[in-house]
Amino acid sequence: MLFRCSKCGRTMPVTTAIPKCECGGLWDIDWEIPSFEESLIDTNIWGMFRYHNFMALDDNAWKDITLGEGFTPVIYLDNILYKMDYMMPTLSFKDRGAAVLISHCKSIGVKSVVQDSSGNAGCSVAAYSARAGINCTIYVPEGTPRNKINMITSYGAKVVTVEGDRDHCADICREAALKSDVYYATHVYNPFFYEGTKTYIYEVFEQLHRIPEHLVIPVGNGTLFLGCVYALEHLQKSSQIDHFPHIIAVQSEYCDPLFRAAEIGSNKPVSYSFLPTLAEGIAIGRPMRGKEILRLAYKHNVTFVHAPEGEIKKAKEYLANNGLYIEETTAANLAGFREYCRINGDVKDCLITLCGSGLKTAD
Ligand SMILES: Cc1ncc(COP(=O)(O)O)c(C=O)c1O
Ligand SMILES: [Zn+2]
Repeated sequence: MLFRCSKCGRTMPVTTAIPKCECGGLWDIDWEIPSFEESLIDTNIWGMFRYHNFMALDDNAWKDITLGEGFTPVIYLDNILYKMDYMMPTLSFKDRGAAVLISHCKSIGVKSVVQDSSGNAGCSVAAYSARAGINCTIYVPEGTPRNKINMITSYGAKVVTVEGDRDHCADICREAALKSDVYYATHVYNPFFYEGTKTYIYEVFEQLHRIPEHLVIPVGNGTLFLGCVYALEHLQKSSQIDHFPHIIAVQSEYCDPLFRAAEIGSNKPVSYSFLPTLAEGIAIGRPMRGKEILRLAYKHNVTFVHAPEGEIKKAKEYLANNGLYIEETTAANLAGFREYCRINGDVKDCLITLCGSGLKTAD
């Protein structure tokens, strides 16, 4: 299996530890995915690896790494569908990506990984590293909720707290990774992560026997967004769906480089100084795959929408009052959906992801 540079097309065996091409382009995985067919779903597995035939996997290392993640339920509340993606081993959707990424690390013999995260991806990578017997260090920005840090250290990983914002934390982590010989197990650069997040869509399709007309997806670095788009393109190419659903991509009103780019039709994220937001998980000022996100957003008529800061708490309360205890970044999805309806009118047949648990941000 090969990595192919998304910019210059250069290839490299996936066993490389080099996080991106020397031209600066990020790696994609070059492999032939089989057409989506129900008969290729491994129904003996009650987790996301039931779709292993549609995932680029080096070998069977995942069988010893999986923690049973995925195959999360879909429920109805006030005529809206919600996918319970906080019902995961480490309580967020990031387990989808981390299970595949760390399986890949195990397959290629990695002994130590380092990663930067706003918290949830760090918890996931730390948990799967523990399971795989891989040393793990997670860089988090200051202000990362205590529960996330406690969880990461409980898995035996080391936490390095970096002053400043999430983007600065990523810069420091990348510098540290460059200077040492540890593997940069990043959910942003490494395309194996997206092999996991693709399964969100495969599950929805198998569970509902269709894809809803509207999908609400949060976008910071876009790991769920990209996985979803790749899987939807796969379903469409396999003639399983006859049209692409409408994606409502949620950004914080205080940190919205992709929203701003879409507003002016730019092909790259708009950078400027952002304000702190309750939706810390999507507070990414410089999304590394921003150009790819925007290219796909224009191709598939994605609508970017703001989660108004003042509406996040209300959305969280409404969901909790209905038995759903989720974190602020997840409440932002509903706040963003409500904002979309305020501007465009009500929509029917919408699925919102509940991608992170409230327990991790509670005091
Ligand atoms: C709960 C939650 N939702 C959404 C996101 C955004 O994911 P991404 O940055 O991959 O777009 C994150 C990222 O940490 C998260 O923790
Ligand atoms: Zn290149």
